[in-house]
Amino acid sequence: MGDHTAMQAGVEYAEAPINHAEDTQGFLHDVLEGLAQSPAMLSPKYFYDATGSRLFDRICKLPEYYLTRTEMAILERSAPAIADQLGPGVLLIEPGSGSCAKVGRLLRHLCAPAGYAPVEISGEHLHANLSHLRGAFPDLPITPVCADFTTPFSLPSDIPETRRRVVFFPGSTIGNFPPEAAVDLLRGFRGLLDDRGGLLLGVDRRKDPRILEAAYDDAAGVTAAFNRNLLVRMRDELGAEVNPAGFRHRALWNDECSRIEMHLVSRGRQTIRVGGRTHGFHDDEHIVTEYSYKYSAEGMQRLAAQAGFRVSAQWSDDREWFSVLWLTT
Ligand SMILES: C[S@@+](CC[C@H](N)C(=O)[O-])C[C@H]1O[C@@H](n2cnc3c(N)ncnc32)[C@H](O)[C@@H]1O
Repeated sequence: MGDHTAMQAGVEYAEAPINHAEDTQGFLHDVLEGLAQSPAMLSPKYFYDATGSRLFDRICKLPEYYLTRTEMAILERSAPAIADQLGPGVLLIEPGSGSCAKVGRLLRHLCAPAGYAPVEISGEHLHANLSHLRGAFPDLPITPVCADFTTPFSLPSDIPETRRRVVFFPGSTIGNFPPEAAVDLLRGFRGLLDDRGGLLLGVDRRKDPRILEAAYDDAAGVTAAFNRNLLVRMRDELGAEVNPAGFRHRALWNDECSRIEMHLVSRGRQTIRVGGRTHGFHDDEHIVTEYSYKYSAEGMQRLAAQAGFRVSAQWSDDREWFSVLWLTT
C-alpha cells in the first residue's frame, strides 16, 4: 500500500474515510447561497442523482449531442497511440466517471494496466454501471470512490501500487468550470499524480453556435428534463416548495465568454421556498444551472500551461470539434 497523501494547489488527497458526496446539508447550503446571487446560480454537480445520471446517459445518445460520439471515435481511433504515450502499468483515476462508458476503449489497449479508480458523486449510478466493466476486465482491480472531486477526497487504501497514476478526465467535464476554477481543478489533480503520470483530458472545441445550442437543447426535451431535475431534487431532498414545470429550459451561446449557458427561466411570477427562505422570481427571470466552456486551440494550451502541464500529445477528430490532450508535468 502506498502513501496516498498529497497536497497540491490547496487540494488535499488524504487517507481518510470516504467522503459521502450526497450531503444534504451541503446541498442546502449551496442552494441558499446560489439563490441569493443575481442572477441566481446553482451548481451543475447537483444535476446528478440516479435520475439525473440516467438522463445524462440518454443525452449522450441524442443526435444533437455530438460530444460523446466524437470523443468515443477519437478514443477508438487513437487508443493505440494514447496507450503508447501512457506506457505500461498505469492506474487510471477517472473523476466524474458517470457510467464508465469510455474507459474500456483505453483499457483494451493499455499494457498491463494496474487498476481503475472511478470517482463519482452519483454513487448509486456508479455502482450500477461497474458490472459491465468487471465482466469485460475480470482481472483488473477496480476501486470505485463515491466523492465530490472538487473537495478533498481519499483514494481507497487498497489501491494498486504503481508509479504511473494517470487522471482520465473525459466528457468535457472541465468545461463546466470557469477558467480560473478549471486551472485550480487541474492543479489539484496534479496532487494525484506521480513522477511518470499525466492527465488525459477531453476538451470540447469552439464551433458554430447553432451546433452548440442544439447539443444543449435537444428536440426530444431530454436536456430540459435533465436541467429541471435540479429543481426536482430540491423539492424531494430539501423539501423545497418549487414547481419544476414552472421553469423552462434555455441554452444560450455566450460568445464573449466562449461558453454555453444553461438556464431555468421562470414562467411568470413565482416563489421558491427552501430552508426557511423565500426567493421571488419575476416573469422571465432565470437561474443559471450550467456553464459549458468551449476551447480554442490557444485556450487549451493556456489552460494546460496555467495548471502547470505541457501538452505532450493531442488527438482530434477531422472537424476539430473535440480534442483529447495528453498533459504531463
Ligand atoms: C459531463 S458528465 C461526464 C461523464 C463521463 N465522464 C463521460 O465522459 O461521459 C459529468 C460526470 O461527472 C460527475 N460529476 C459532476 N460533478 C462532480 C463532482 N463535483 N464530483 C464527482 N463527480 C461529479 C457527474 O455525476 C457525471 O457523471
